[in-house]
Amino acid sequence: MNDQISNLLTESRSFPPPKGFAAGAILGDAVAVAALRARAAADPAAFWGEVAREDLRWQKPFTQTLDWSDAPHAKWFADGTLNLSDNCLDRHCETWRRHKAALIWEGEPIGDQGPEIRTFTYQQLRDAVMRFANGLKLLGVQCGDRVAIYLPMIPEAAIAMLACARIGAVHSVVFGGFSADALGDRCRDTEAKLVITADASYRRGSLIRLKDVVDVALAEGVCPSVQGVVVVRRAHCPIAWQPGRDHAWHDLMAAAQPHCPPTELPAEHPLFILYTSGSTGKPKGLLHTTGGYAAHVTRTMRWVFDLRDDDLYWCTADVGWVTGHSYIVYGPLSNGATVLMYEGAPQSPEKDRFWDIIERHKVTIFYTAPTALRTFMAWGEAPILKHDLSSLRLLGTVGEPINPAAWVWYHEVIGQGRCPIVDTWWQTETGGILIAPLPGVETLVPGTATQPFPGIVADIVDNVGKSQPTDAGGLLVIRHPWPGMARTIWGDRDRYADAYFSKIPGIYFTGDGARRDAKGHFWIMGRVDDVLNVSGHRIGTSEVESALVAHALVAEAAVVGRPDAVTGQAIVAFVTTLGGTDNSPALAQALRAHVAKEIGGLARPAEIRFAAALPKTRSGKIMRRLLRELASGNGVSGDVTTLEDLSVLETLRNSED
Ligand code: PRX
Repeated sequence: MNDQISNLLTESRSFPPPKGFAAGAILGDAVAVAALRARAAADPAAFWGEVAREDLRWQKPFTQTLDWSDAPHAKWFADGTLNLSDNCLDRHCETWRRHKAALIWEGEPIGDQGPEIRTFTYQQLRDAVMRFANGLKLLGVQCGDRVAIYLPMIPEAAIAMLACARIGAVHSVVFGGFSADALGDRCRDTEAKLVITADASYRRGSLIRLKDVVDVALAEGVCPSVQGVVVVRRAHCPIAWQPGRDHAWHDLMAAAQPHCPPTELPAEHPLFILYTSGSTGKPKGLLHTTGGYAAHVTRTMRWVFDLRDDDLYWCTADVGWVTGHSYIVYGPLSNGATVLMYEGAPQSPEKDRFWDIIERHKVTIFYTAPTALRTFMAWGEAPILKHDLSSLRLLGTVGEPINPAAWVWYHEVIGQGRCPIVDTWWQTETGGILIAPLPGVETLVPGTATQPFPGIVADIVDNVGKSQPTDAGGLLVIRHPWPGMARTIWGDRDRYADAYFSKIPGIYFTGDGARRDAKGHFWIMGRVDDVLNVSGHRIGTSEVESALVAHALVAEAAVVGRPDAVTGQAIVAFVTTLGGTDNSPALAQALRAHVAKEIGGLARPAEIRFAAALPKTRSGKIMRRLLRELASGNGVSGDVTTLEDLSVLETLRNSED
């Protein structure tokens, strides 16, 4: 556990809901909320059934709530039918909200006239989605087909997702920072029929050329399922064009019919596949389905963010991550909210860009990652003080543990002491938020995500599944199925059961360690498996190791995390090279670049350490604990008597590049 995280265990400051906030909150009555929690705990499935009935429009109402007979593959609301695009668009278009802004987008470059801003009302967004849905059909995409989306943060990303949902195609969004190899892997695994991309996007003033990456990923025969590529012209830069395969978004929209009714889909119809890293093997494609996911994200969005019609909500995540799926697109739009989307980086053109955006658009709810906050802290207060942030009323964080110093800074400097902070714990697998404060009633303590959402049965257990007493650390598990949970790993049912339901048989194991205090609040302590969290991005050590050993000069590699004041963790790779190789800083550089090429820049090791051998036990297992201690700069502690060759340690200690 790193220092930052162990600090969390000693926090004593607390922040009750500000009076004004509680009075107007959707859930502001502590007594009523306690009763609601008790009711949900007594029968979680019935609670979620009520949520699904109240929050969604069903074409055919369901009569069953949870079917766990095929555990651990859940079915929720299985005999009901609905369409999530209908819920996110059409039902709002039948009310005054048709003229309400659904999406306000701001591009990164700032020209003479200011930044480019595009606003879609609910009606305009629905029109775009219907046309693109028809465009998908023109390209032969049918219900159940998979569509890869490799787009930057532009409105077309949301339009493409909703258009897939409208016709029952299953989208698989791939974060724009992933490499051609990673994109190709995902297209092959999903057998995607189509890839939707853009020529390029703007980030930190430069062009990120996505179409070039797609061309490499789809080079002759690599992804045989892909029949077409749709290209949004965002930057209008020159790109290669493969006639017959490549289609301009604009032309497709012009050719498509304007009206496309939402397809009536069973609640368990697949909605999307999203890849995430585990402790072993290749990234897993988690499959999320329609009805349960929709119910979960709609209700958590409204209650955790106290979402109202006059809010302007901004989540700074990328749509390539689950946060973007659930809390930029589906959760907010299902609630009829106005969502802000920003294309670029926070320091572009200056370090005040986020605060400038908040001031100009009058953002009321702001949701970001602790890493971003720590970066802003390091930049100092001057960029913030230039702006009026008085529109903000609620702040959120997600993706990694937030250290109390960053929490308090967020509260004081960004929230000016006025805004509750919702620290939301969840995962790609969970679909939506599972542990977070309800901001109108919860007294907040920096560093704890507080309590499970009503209807979520979380527990902390030891290695054999026994509940742990107050303040004893353990494994974070979820004891009862919930509607937003992934249904399986695409194409590998057994791996799903094995990865999540085998450590404690039959119970969902999150991969995180946690502690519960006397108030029942959960303190998340980070991953207990070989998954790293770098800037809130999940990276499997085994993926980085495979990338390294794929390099011609690498014999063996072991990857660990070390604490980092800004990114939470940083990647340190211990590498042995093939005999006679010059272990120079230039080679370290080349290996870092190699990992970025294989996986994407987010997996680039911060540090490469060369050694003649890696420390192993007599049975040949790499001693990761030792490597972690070495990487953290701490002395090596504990028992090293099983270490094969102690001189290895000495070399590793002295091998910082
Ligand atoms: O370790 C936890 C951490 O992020 C992991 C999930 O990563 P991912 O699937 O990429 O989803 C991130 C966005 C939902 C978790 O296993 N994590 C996420 N939120 C928090 C967190 N750790 C502590 N506090 C959080 N609020």
